Amino acid sequence: MTGTTGAPAERREGREKVGGTARYAAEFPLPGRLQAWPVPAAVARGRVTGIDTAAALAVPGVLDVLTHENAPRLAEPDDATLAVLQDPRVPHRGWFVALVVAETLEAARAGAAAVRVGYEAEKHDVVLTPSHPGLYVPEEASAGQPGVREQGDPDGAFENSAVRVDVAYRVPPLHNHPMEPHASTARWEDGRLLVHTSSQGAHTVRAVLAGLFGLPEERIVVTAEHVGGGFGSKGTPRPDVVLAAMAARHTGRPVTVAFPRRHLPAVVGHRAPTLHRLRLGADADGRLSCLTHEVTTHTSRVKEFVEHAAVPARVMYAAPHRRTLHRVAALDVPSPSWMRAPGEAPGMYALESAVDELAGELGMDPIELRVRNEPDVEPDSGRPFSSRHLAECLREGARRFGWDRRDPRPRSRRDGPLLLGTGVAAATYPAMVRPSTAEARALPDGTFLVRTDAADIGTGARTVLAQVAADALEVPLERVRIEVGSTELPSAPLAGDSSGTASWGWAVHEACTLLTHRLAGHTGPLPEQGIDAHADTTGTADAESAYARHAFGAHFAEVAVDTVSGEVRVARLLGVYAAGRILNARTARSQFVGGMTMGLGMALTEGSTMDAAFGDFVESDLASYHVPVHADVAEIEAHWLDEDDSRLNPMGSKGIGEIGIVGTAAAIGNAVHHATGVRFRELPLTPDRVL
Ligand code: MOS
Repeated sequence: MTGTTGAPAERREGREKVGGTARYAAEFPLPGRLQAWPVPAAVARGRVTGIDTAAALAVPGVLDVLTHENAPRLAEPDDATLAVLQDPRVPHRGWFVALVVAETLEAARAGAAAVRVGYEAEKHDVVLTPSHPGLYVPEEASAGQPGVREQGDPDGAFENSAVRVDVAYRVPPLHNHPMEPHASTARWEDGRLLVHTSSQGAHTVRAVLAGLFGLPEERIVVTAEHVGGGFGSKGTPRPDVVLAAMAARHTGRPVTVAFPRRHLPAVVGHRAPTLHRLRLGADADGRLSCLTHEVTTHTSRVKEFVEHAAVPARVMYAAPHRRTLHRVAALDVPSPSWMRAPGEAPGMYALESAVDELAGELGMDPIELRVRNEPDVEPDSGRPFSSRHLAECLREGARRFGWDRRDPRPRSRRDGPLLLGTGVAAATYPAMVRPSTAEARALPDGTFLVRTDAADIGTGARTVLAQVAADALEVPLERVRIEVGSTELPSAPLAGDSSGTASWGWAVHEACTLLTHRLAGHTGPLPEQGIDAHADTTGTADAESAYARHAFGAHFAEVAVDTVSGEVRVARLLGVYAAGRILNARTARSQFVGGMTMGLGMALTEGSTMDAAFGDFVESDLASYHVPVHADVAEIEAHWLDEDDSRLNPMGSKGIGEIGIVGTAAAIGNAVHHATGVRFRELPLTPDRVL
């Protein structure tokens, strides 16, 4: 290693982004390009009985209105949320029933407002309750996790435990709301489909489009060069790319579909609400004998997606008697989907809050309680951990935070009308690696070109992959050029489940290592086209691994609760992580801090409200869906331990994109309890709840 990895290298595309020259999917003004604006359904359940497009077509500049009657037919997709404009059924409010195509965005929008849709509405059911008659235990929750797992006799063990906590928590629906809303520009040329889209994985989009339009993949090019965030909502293709391709085929011209933010809540997924019930039983020394975590959630009638929020309880603490279970009901709601740390974020909010409650019952320090229940092996699977440094993260965090100066008694610190408190929670996220490919080329001018279809969704993927390449090639970073974000490049998995860098990086490392060997065996000047090497890495599927591989962390929060207004202010947030080798200190810090900031939003301000009457989410813009801003946290710090784990990938890295959000909300909630002596069990902790 030349020491390039780990260095705080600056983001390669930073200048383009701040200078405004980085182009996003809606910013390709191709000659003759049209704009399109969708029409969302105004009922929550039923069917379209008629669409009157005359007024829309009379708007100057409007070319056409696509509906289920005239839109191109699609093959049936695996993901039924993509079967847009195929039939008159309305499965939820906001489902698209028409698309207006026009010369300008303004005309498309005016046309969409002029479309008259007739509906036959049916009674809808959109409210999740713990005793909803439609609840069932799914075979699988999201991420392929078993719906239920049980060991021993958790109910009996709970009854016989000396100290018990039996509590219920609720996390509301949450929305990803990336800075750049979903957008796609599509055109057809000589039977080929060419697409610019805002996505976490161009190859995934291409595969789905090939199926939908019945085209061989070689006739589709998908590029996602710059992506303004996704947080899971761009992990799979969304209706924008399907509608853009349909409209482009229908009109024979390039078409851009850029969703206005107010359409997002219904059509690009959300984190489903989760109702949690936890039962923790321990002996007087705080050793858990029983741990049950039962999660109740919703999915849509379009497809089954079950937020796997009981899964982290399979990883965290030793307890011989255990049950982790999901229940789900299919309601007439928009389809839930991936959102940053799916499962872990809401699950660890509930679990880490309940652990704090148990510490209170025991009169024990919450860090000590966690350390005391550290498992020797992964509790659910019995597999050894490839590495686990949770206790070290807790201890290091406690040292940096000044935990030993804390008076454990709730409501013991006051500053005028403010009640002050501190809290801690653990974090975990699986370390996954997917199959990937990459290509490296040595050129006669002494530079190297590395190509792979990684997605840089704001993480700095380009930069860190160049670092991995420079190290494997043993050359300075400046000599490595990198291309990502297109299906014209070697295939690579999506930027998702914090597995991107580990997966792409492995392939980049292999290709560069192979190239180094080729170059060592080469004499004389390089040929003009250079010398190249290709790598095809398999990754290691979690189920096949002999080891349980997870990153761990500890979050600390200090809050001030205003007894006059009920407002919770966060004075300090501190995270310490053990996530394998950190490959870029600068971008990694941004990932951790970004995740913690999103956890702060989850704790205090974010939440989508299901309107029972209309059957849709009330918050549909950033004026009503409150994401945190700089003023919402005074101090935020992220640190990490050097963790050497050879059982991951050649770089020794674990994923870091999601763990920052995991446990942050619990740390803040636990601090609010410490400040006030009151346990709030429903997020977000807005003044109306706290006062
Ligand atoms: Mo992430 S929710 O796996 O993109």
